[in-house]
Amino acid sequence: MKIGVDYYPEQWDRALWKADSDLMAKIGVKLVRIGEFAWSKLEPRDGQFDFQWLDEAISTFSRHAIGIVLCTPTSCPPLWMYETYPDIVQVGADGRRIQTGIRGHRCLNAPMFLYYAKRITEQLARRYANNPAIAAWQIDNEIEAYPCTCETCRGLFRDWLIDKYDTLENINAAFGNSVWSGEYSDIAQIKPPTSYPRAWQNPALCLDFARFSSDTAVKFVSDMAQIIKRENPRAKVTTNTFFCENTPDFYKLFSMLDFTSYDNYPPVRISGDDNNPNSHAFELDFMRGLKQRNFWVMEQLSGATGSWAPMGPTPKPGQIKGYAMQAMAHGADTVMHFRWRTANKGAEMFWHGLLDHSNVPSRRFKEFAELCREASKLSVIETTELVSDVAILYSPENDWAFRIQPQTEGFNYLEQLRYFHAAFTRYGTNVDIISPTADLSKYKAVVAPAMYVYDKASAENIYRYVIKGGTLIMTNRSGVKDQCNNCIMEPLPTVYREMIGAEVKEYDPIGNTEQTIADFAGNKFTCRQWCDILEVTTARAYAEYKDSFYAGSAAVTMNRYCSGVTYYVGTICNMDFYESFAGNIMKQTGIPRLKDLPRGVEVTTRTNGLDDYIFFFNNSEEEADITLPKAMYSIIDGGERETLTLKPFGMDIVRK
Ligand code: GAL
Repeated sequence: MKIGVDYYPEQWDRALWKADSDLMAKIGVKLVRIGEFAWSKLEPRDGQFDFQWLDEAISTFSRHAIGIVLCTPTSCPPLWMYETYPDIVQVGADGRRIQTGIRGHRCLNAPMFLYYAKRITEQLARRYANNPAIAAWQIDNEIEAYPCTCETCRGLFRDWLIDKYDTLENINAAFGNSVWSGEYSDIAQIKPPTSYPRAWQNPALCLDFARFSSDTAVKFVSDMAQIIKRENPRAKVTTNTFFCENTPDFYKLFSMLDFTSYDNYPPVRISGDDNNPNSHAFELDFMRGLKQRNFWVMEQLSGATGSWAPMGPTPKPGQIKGYAMQAMAHGADTVMHFRWRTANKGAEMFWHGLLDHSNVPSRRFKEFAELCREASKLSVIETTELVSDVAILYSPENDWAFRIQPQTEGFNYLEQLRYFHAAFTRYGTNVDIISPTADLSKYKAVVAPAMYVYDKASAENIYRYVIKGGTLIMTNRSGVKDQCNNCIMEPLPTVYREMIGAEVKEYDPIGNTEQTIADFAGNKFTCRQWCDILEVTTARAYAEYKDSFYAGSAAVTMNRYCSGVTYYVGTICNMDFYESFAGNIMKQTGIPRLKDLPRGVEVTTRTNGLDDYIFFFNNSEEEADITLPKAMYSIIDGGERETLTLKPFGMDIVRK
């Protein structure tokens, strides 16, 4: 397994490069990522390129056989470009042009920006794509589907709409523009949603604009990747992503790239609140699901974070190593730490790296060196992957649509997925988070939370899975919207009603009010946010409401449909419900459960088809003891174990 670091040669004296590369080699760093913000050093003036310093930096590291992840610098155009072409800067939803001087504020559709972005990417690709020191390429940095409203984007959005709907009449019909006299009589009247937040804007317009903004980001990344591939078709190209405000369609983004990479900043504070699962296991499984393949962490927590925001606490002993190993447990094959040394200048001088301002290796640095040592012994898991019995479906369209209309106080789409993820993983089973159109046939249970916006391919895929004998769990706010983000005029959950065997008679968006449900065995659970008042047709009640005028109505149902089984959870509960529910589903479907795992201990399995490697990660501040079903070998130190004692944030990996 490879451990790397993010490094900024442009920020340090050359003398330090050598000392740093020597130290990296000594402790076992295998990769450095460089260049993502260095455009003004690479092209100080229009068309005047300087690659000499980059050549030198690359050879400083490659001398030690440290591989390079070379980035394209398009997130930070130099000021000369902004000065000459002010309209390459994004315009916000309020119609104002963003101020320059920070980063990431270039419009990905601006013709002059694209001209320069292609040129610098081409220059880099020509010079380095066949250099054996280059292990991989990163396009730009944390690209977002920023909803830019500049003139260029407005024009392209209009073209995008005409391309999709053909005529203005069709657009008017799709958007329901007869509401509030919003009918377009001329194409020039079409503009992106221009107030922020999006209150009062037409949800149909907003969803199409989110789709358009995502397509813009995906096209930019794929165009840049093609430039690199032209020079070397075998080059490995990615972009680093994160859970941002303006999420692109992650599936489309990475479908054009060789692998997924993710910037991983798990929380240092452990909440201790069971209803607020704080593990980044969810994020990691999410990233693995984007290509249904192992991935890289391109930035990993290394110290106290902050700068523009107040600093958060420094990682506790065990977290630097433990969180990197946790990423591997969920399918990361490479983990790069952000950053080697803390900046002493610029906006991020308090977002700490591995080395502090003192430049003296500290506790965190020593733990990182230990990580490098241990990771180098884990080559046996390099060819392994996670195979899961459970899948949770994530849809970018549902994500966007819920951001546009948040439904009820406290409702959060990703949280719906998180609850189920936390519940199933509590029993030590692997969980995939995948697209609703992915092949579901291999899963013993599939959770389809809040399938809000209808999509034909997804609905057919889900039906196919159940018809062929799958066990499906669906939740409230499913089948609500059509493709245009308008409400479907049928009893909920509309297209899924037949399969669910129940329908929603009325719903009650109770927000943060707490109510009670009881399951078939009489166990009581708190519910909140949303109550679908269900009437069963072919289904049976799994749980019913205990309060309000709908006491006695079904809250959760179970139905046999063709060869499969469907559950519908009409409300949102505390974690104890999800744990009990997931436990029952696992029992019904024969998914093995580890029942006595101490709280906070996370278990995943990576396999190469012959051998299984079980990762035990103690994501808590208490020491944890685990009894293994039989004696197993630890691949960390080769010792045979019947019990594991894990320190806080400690990890052991045993061969089954
Ligand atoms: C990431 C970004 C890095 C750095 C880091 C810490 O989002 O890619 O460049 O800014 O956060 O803030």
